[in-house]
Amino acid sequence: MSILVTGGTGYIGSHTCVQLLSAGFDIVLLDNFSNSKPEVIDRIKEIAGRDFTFYQADLLNKKEIVSIFEKNKIDAVIHFAGLKAVGESVSIPINYYHNNITGTLNLCSVMEQFGVYNLVFSSSATVYGTQDQVPLHEDLPLSATNPYGRTKLMIENILNDLYVSNTNWSIALLRYFNPVGAHSSGRLGEDPNGIPNNLVPYITQVAIGKLPELKVYGNNYPTKDGTGVRDYIHVEDLSEGHIKALEKVTITSGINAYNLGTGIGYSVLDMINTFSKASGREIPYKITNRRPGDIGESFADPSKAEKELNWKAKKDLYEMCIDSWRWQVNNPNGYESKVTVV
Ligand code: NAD
Ligand code: UD1
Repeated sequence: MSILVTGGTGYIGSHTCVQLLSAGFDIVLLDNFSNSKPEVIDRIKEIAGRDFTFYQADLLNKKEIVSIFEKNKIDAVIHFAGLKAVGESVSIPINYYHNNITGTLNLCSVMEQFGVYNLVFSSSATVYGTQDQVPLHEDLPLSATNPYGRTKLMIENILNDLYVSNTNWSIALLRYFNPVGAHSSGRLGEDPNGIPNNLVPYITQVAIGKLPELKVYGNNYPTKDGTGVRDYIHVEDLSEGHIKALEKVTITSGINAYNLGTGIGYSVLDMINTFSKASGREIPYKITNRRPGDIGESFADPSKAEKELNWKAKKDLYEMCIDSWRWQVNNPNGYESKVTVV
């Protein structure tokens, strides 16, 4: 079976490609490198020990997508490609709406043109907006608090409309909680541009000495130690969830949302302590004001994915930290690790 992976050289896409190849799927990758590096292609091949076709293509260019479908027999699509930085989406909303929504519309219309109806989509727990209760389960009313989140919510609605229009569609909406960690080989990982916004990439850069200290955004939330609580999930567990979702969409039709999380919430201080143990480094930090738009506590009810996809996250917080640290130490400058001496 041949799978088109959009955004295949990105953080989650690259880990999922390794697992797809290991599970025996043929893959075709598409990425425009707006947030990833060509070097990832060789690293996926090196780990998986298998070859695949890569296209540098943009989902905003429909002709490029058509050309990929003409040249390859595609059975299903895993759609990761999208812009994902919340703060940036507030500054440049048109780019976010255009890239994420128009890109998805182009992709889906080409899929229809070629009679390909199996789709796994990268949604996000951000579609739960602000809720009074945790854990978060799939049937809660949805909302979004920023343009990035609204693109995810709009795409979920668009995909629901597609299924209503044509019941051949078979779609999994995967709502990721907080993906962290890296491939256990230390060869694939998250490679943020500039100063990281998210907690774990920030901590790894503090631990290695690139950044002086972590700012803990608030210690007055109604949580066990006052700091924000999240459901961190190892990127390899998350990738496995895609394989399970793919297996499901290719044998059924319908549209279903699934939470991909561990079901366990950890605080910022839990993360600092565990990362410190895993790295053997102290993580200097100071408590600052809350980050605007943050919520106190978010963690998944992952029981639907366990029941219907036969998927459950296995890796604990310590493994997430160990693997993030190995990636950081082995790749201090991310994928631009090859230093040119002049
Ligand atoms: P990423 O930025 O590492 O990967 C996305 C990839 O898509 C990049 O390689 C980028 O170059 C590519 N891309 C973007 N727009 C494109 C376009 N128009 N045409 C072709 N390629 C394009 O992000 P990630 O962390 O791997 O996330 C993958 C998906 O999961 C995204 O849709 C993201 O919104 C979603 N998601 C991520 C997180 C997270 O914390 N990482 C959480 C929830 C949901
Ligand atoms: C953020 C996004 C969310 C997105 C998710 C992807 C915001 C407001 N939300 O969520 O939409 O889906 O990333 O993974 O950007 N923290 C610190 N110091 C830091 C960084 C973070 O204390 O330097 C705290 C945060 O307050 C939060 C926790 O660490 O309590 C996790 O933060 P982060 O990794 O940014 O993820 P989210 O806030 O869950």
